[in-house]
Amino acid sequence: MRRPWRFAAALACAAALAVYAVPTAPPGTDPGSLLGPAAASAHSAATIVIGPDAAQKGFQTREVTMAGGGMLSVVNLDGIDHTVTSVAVDASGEPLFDVRTPPGSTVSIPAAAGLAPGRYDFFCTFHPHMRGTLVVEGGGGGVEPVRPEFRQPLVVPRVLSGSRLRVRMREAPVRVLPDGPATRMWTYGGSWPGPTIRRRAGRHTRVTFRNDLPRRAGAMSVHLHGDHHAPEHDGQPQTHLVRRGKARTYDYPLTFGGKPEPSSFFWYHDHRMDHTTRNNWRGLQGMFLVTDGKDLRLPTGVRDVPLLVGDRSFTDDNQLANPFAHGPAMHHHGGKMMFTGPNAPPNDITVGTHVLVNGRYAPYLDVTATRYRLRLLNASPFTAYNFALSDGRPFVQIGTGNGLLREPVVRDTIVLGPSQRADVLVDFHGEVGQRVVLESVPLPPGTPGTGVRETSLMEFRVLRKADDRSRLPASLPGPVPVRAPSRVSKTWTFDLHGNPDTGSFWGINGKTFVDTRMDHRVRLGSTERWRLRNTSDMTHYVHIHAEQWRTVRRDGKRPPPWERGLEDTWRVDPGEVVDVAARFEDYTGPFMIHCHMLDHEDHGMMARFEVLPPR
Ligand code: C2O
Ligand code: CU
Repeated sequence: MRRPWRFAAALACAAALAVYAVPTAPPGTDPGSLLGPAAASAHSAATIVIGPDAAQKGFQTREVTMAGGGMLSVVNLDGIDHTVTSVAVDASGEPLFDVRTPPGSTVSIPAAAGLAPGRYDFFCTFHPHMRGTLVVEGGGGGVEPVRPEFRQPLVVPRVLSGSRLRVRMREAPVRVLPDGPATRMWTYGGSWPGPTIRRRAGRHTRVTFRNDLPRRAGAMSVHLHGDHHAPEHDGQPQTHLVRRGKARTYDYPLTFGGKPEPSSFFWYHDHRMDHTTRNNWRGLQGMFLVTDGKDLRLPTGVRDVPLLVGDRSFTDDNQLANPFAHGPAMHHHGGKMMFTGPNAPPNDITVGTHVLVNGRYAPYLDVTATRYRLRLLNASPFTAYNFALSDGRPFVQIGTGNGLLREPVVRDTIVLGPSQRADVLVDFHGEVGQRVVLESVPLPPGTPGTGVRETSLMEFRVLRKADDRSRLPASLPGPVPVRAPSRVSKTWTFDLHGNPDTGSFWGINGKTFVDTRMDHRVRLGSTERWRLRNTSDMTHYVHIHAEQWRTVRRDGKRPPPWERGLEDTWRVDPGEVVDVAARFEDYTGPFMIHCHMLDHEDHGMMARFEVLPPR
């Protein structure tokens, strides 16, 4: 299925040949830059070459040298879009340079001419494991990268904890960037993230969402991600919608098989057909904590901090950029939903220049030299992060988004793709006076998959010592080991289909999402083992609704220790096979399986299964 894009790459390559005669050295290219750093010499012009299959092979030009004031160009010989984006940012958080290159194009980067001498790492925001370095030589001045300054206090969203809650969806100004006008967003209850709902497991909870958004927003659908509830309260894309000017009450018993659910870190977000990416980008996201009242002496109160991480881009007057203004165009072809145009799959990638924590750019949190519990949530539409702490201390992961693990796992870094969560402890003992930055760091070279964004996220300022009565338990009340059937009852294969001429789509088992088709049926009370396969070139983050899932095998092996709890979303790298299992409990009716990269979900990569009553 990758062939159409290989073909397009070959065409783009041929086009480049015709124009430049030499495919790897267009006029003005510093020949040294193609031979590697040893042969590099400063030149007034320089070119970054993106070769065929760059998403797998990386930039053809890993290092390029240019004299200060020179012209930097990018030639894209691949069949898909890429960007060349600097890791370093300016005082307002914008990358020093950031260009998008369609297949077969040559674009220049005027901003590079203004850079001060130095080394500038760059990457592709669409495939962030593609990395390279620009060396600017000479003695002149110019724009210097800015060390991120953490100028705004972290906002911890207000907490709602009653059994009957009301949340009004409305447009509201949100203080996202430290300076200039507030950003108008679509919000749950006037803030982004919306209020954090915090409820004891097993206590029935009803949340009434009212849609007072602007007319163009249309109907909405609110999904409580990770929770176990009836399909009519699941916030599915085309049914039980919250129409404009109307309200709908979602019913969450917070039970599983009649017992209280495990304590968990869910989140709620819009799930509307075709518009999930837009509606999340605009701000319809909030967090939901289920507590179980077991006294494990984990950090609580102000030392239990939920952190929603997401990226956005802004206009000059601080408003949200609109990545959806230019399609893609949708049409039906042979019973399939197909997309054409510049943002058609696989170029449908919504990324932002600024990575925000709880809706703020580069916030700080004053802490004491004690243990903290951080609930990390990646609520980005597309981007993955590899979380790390700048002091080199590890995280102690105690849970997933769906409950505690059976034992804590010490991890230096934690990768989270869209919608994935981790429940971690960090320890600031002995760090009075220090500033610790939560950051996202690149994966080790050679790691398969699409990669992660490199960025700093927020700063912890360790002010003083304080009493710490928290404890790190050696064992936790995690889930009992799963008894998964040895037979796989359903395989879901994730891939890209079509071609750039007739149209393309993201599919599951070769099909786009249609809400009249049922892709699989299971019986209530049965336990099934499903296989998730990624045959595409890109990493996918696959999410399954309805149940509390276990990871049985990852590439034929026992899953890593942090993946032995309850899960609802899995990273599936190109070529990977992940087996998962769940027992179908409590509810009959339709549910969804989809990629949680929201553009992929909106552009076909979603399917339905139905839970039938027991025979
Ligand atoms: Cu968080 Cu079906 O989604
Ligand atoms: Cu995907």
